[in-house]
Amino acid sequence: MKKPKTICIILGTRPEAIKLAPVIQVFQRSPLFDTQVILTGQHREMVEQVMQLFGLKADRDLEIMLPKQSLSDITCRSLRGLETLFQQIQPSLVLVQGDTTTAFAATLAAFYQKIPVGHVEAGLRTDDLFNPYPEEANRRVISQLSQLHFAPTQLAAENLQRSGVLGEIHQTGNTVIDALLSVAKRQPDCNVKGLDWDKYRVLLATVHRRENWGEPLQGIAQAFLQILENPDTALLLPLHRNPIVREPLQALLGGHPRIFLTDPLDYAELVGAIGRSHLLLTDSGGLQEEAPSLGKPVLVLRKTTERPEAVAAGTAKLVGTDPKEIVAAATELLSNSVAYEKMATAINPFGDGRAAERIFQIVENYLST
Ligand code: UD1
Repeated sequence: MKKPKTICIILGTRPEAIKLAPVIQVFQRSPLFDTQVILTGQHREMVEQVMQLFGLKADRDLEIMLPKQSLSDITCRSLRGLETLFQQIQPSLVLVQGDTTTAFAATLAAFYQKIPVGHVEAGLRTDDLFNPYPEEANRRVISQLSQLHFAPTQLAAENLQRSGVLGEIHQTGNTVIDALLSVAKRQPDCNVKGLDWDKYRVLLATVHRRENWGEPLQGIAQAFLQILENPDTALLLPLHRNPIVREPLQALLGGHPRIFLTDPLDYAELVGAIGRSHLLLTDSGGLQEEAPSLGKPVLVLRKTTERPEAVAAGTAKLVGTDPKEIVAAATELLSNSVAYEKMATAINPFGDGRAAERIFQIVENYLST
């Protein structure tokens, strides 16, 4: 039998772990590949939870995380660590996911060693370099340096053609749906102390993006307080570990009897929470993709989205960070059942749960020629 080829799968943050878990599982099942899972350590606790949930173990961990780390910290520390590792391991292909600084640094490190890169979730664009920041720039650079582009949707594939990228573009669906469906099958629950899911219409919210730090975050918090003037609503807000986000939200929302601020939920609890919630308010990309599979409308707390498919399909609405806009959109969905049902029953445009298998087949073909 031929010697298995080595594939390095690199991840650093929680969403990368969720979206790469199904890919890692497919590669690890195959005798054709020696699959090395490498963590940069951009996130720590938030990645550990996901690895455990999917029964995954990292082969290496660069442990780069620093408190209040800057983008240069993450880039430099990942780039140096990965250079050494790639020289030792000499992989046939490196797989990265999305648009984080880990994915960007891993792509650059692979390029410097002339190792081909496969980019999972390629082709998302807002065409605004600073929104989201630095992700729009990260993904553009990754696209220019990758050989295999795994576009989740047709629009993403078109964006890649428009960007004039080299290499092969394949439409695969988004692996987040694979991850979500595998976890939803286990019918996970989400128990939050004091929160009665049957008594209230629960709004599930998350906020963490850099472009929302500072004033926009204040506006979002004000909007949450106004929405909660509806006495039959409650708000579940799992807080990101970053103190820049965590501390102001705790100060503004901490005392309210129907606001539940928690640590980040583990992914199974999060899936349980999406299933039981009425509506989502979020600046997360992954939640925009996941919520429609469980029939929940999403209000996107950002000025731009690289997922216009969700808006076009009617599963998400872009509301920005102005409190007036957020309150108006939430009030409409809380009071108009026709508008709510229209969003809740729209079809998820992001995939069918078989993206990881397709990615595996494409890599196998690519490396066998
Ligand atoms: C990163 C990604 C973003 C992604 C997000 C998901 C970049 C530039 N941004 O942003 O695209 O949507 O992850 O969460 O790559 N921290 C901990 N423990 C953890 C994780 C984070 O304490 O397990 C704290 C650290 O103090 C760290 C801070 O959170 O300094 C911010 O983490 P960082 O990775 O720099 O940025 P994110 O906002 O998480």
